[in-house]
Amino acid sequence: MSTVPGTVPGTIVVTGAAGGMGRPAARRFAAQGRPLLLCDLDADRLATLARELQDACADARIDVLAADIAAEDFPAQVTAALGDAPLAGLVHTAGLSPTMSDGRRIFAVNYHATERLVAALLPRFAPGGCAVLISSVSAYMLADPVLLGSIRDFVATGNAEGIARFMDDPGMSYAVSKRAVINFVEREAPAFGARGLRIASIAPGFIDTPMGRAEAEENAQLRAMIDMVPQQRMGHGDEIASVAEFLCSPAASYISGTDIRVDGGIIGLLSTKAGA
Ligand SMILES: NC(=O)c1ccc[n+]([C@@H]2O[C@H](COP(=O)([O-])OP(=O)(O)OC[C@H]3O[C@@H](n4cnc5c(N)ncnc54)[C@H](O)[C@@H]3O)[C@@H](O)[C@H]2O)c1
Repeated sequence: MSTVPGTVPGTIVVTGAAGGMGRPAARRFAAQGRPLLLCDLDADRLATLARELQDACADARIDVLAADIAAEDFPAQVTAALGDAPLAGLVHTAGLSPTMSDGRRIFAVNYHATERLVAALLPRFAPGGCAVLISSVSAYMLADPVLLGSIRDFVATGNAEGIARFMDDPGMSYAVSKRAVINFVEREAPAFGARGLRIASIAPGFIDTPMGRAEAEENAQLRAMIDMVPQQRMGHGDEIASVAEFLCSPAASYISGTDIRVDGGIIGLLSTKAGA
């Protein structure tokens, strides 16, 4: 019988590192003394974070990569920045929400870039390593079984016929991209497991980050849902980062191929109401 693995030595790659979930994730892994490769589109905020972490620990190994995750060569930039260092974890938080871009760009960033990055990093992980992706509670708000089947089919085969008509609507494109991330994690778990690795996603609820605040400001329906959250508040970025840290730890050694809702109970509540 195989044994439960211990902490995996190696670099943690954090994408969206300058954002509301990426920053606390970077702080947590820096506090563990991990070498970090921090990636974000925003070079200034990335540099500020790297300085902060370096000031807190002069010995810390902090590398930064300011680049667009949707660029075709982004995975190659990451692997080049990693060099020969073993990869212990990926915490992939970079993403776009419905008010931030058009539907096609949202899908390209949230799904296609994710698929390419994970494919490139899979062979780079040290045994015991873990990839943590970020989905969303939006994925659970899609109820049409035909659409859910089309998303699963798209992730399995690349056939985009059933989802193409949603790509021009930012809200739908976002939800479909996040459902696809959940299906992608399920799809990839066997390949990860065969190498002694794990992959999982976190579905944040309404989180008080720049993105979460921007969406709430624009969307009255969202504000009404925030008022219904059983935990009676928005979540904090660090409440997502703490789960990412857990998933990358030996304490999560049997968690793979699944999505973990960190939503203050909202999807459970909405499902209960829908079933009532
Ligand atoms: N905040 C919420 O309420 C919420 C809810 C559900 C899911 N999510 C998901 O959580 C993840 C993190 O969200 P957040 O709240 O931290 O958002 P955020 O906007 O605070 O941070 C996202 C970071 O990603 C970076 N980024 C965006 N596009 C990029 C690109 N193309 N290349 C490189 N970097 C890019 C941004 O510069 C930013 O620093 C996203 O995938 C989002 O969809 C957020």
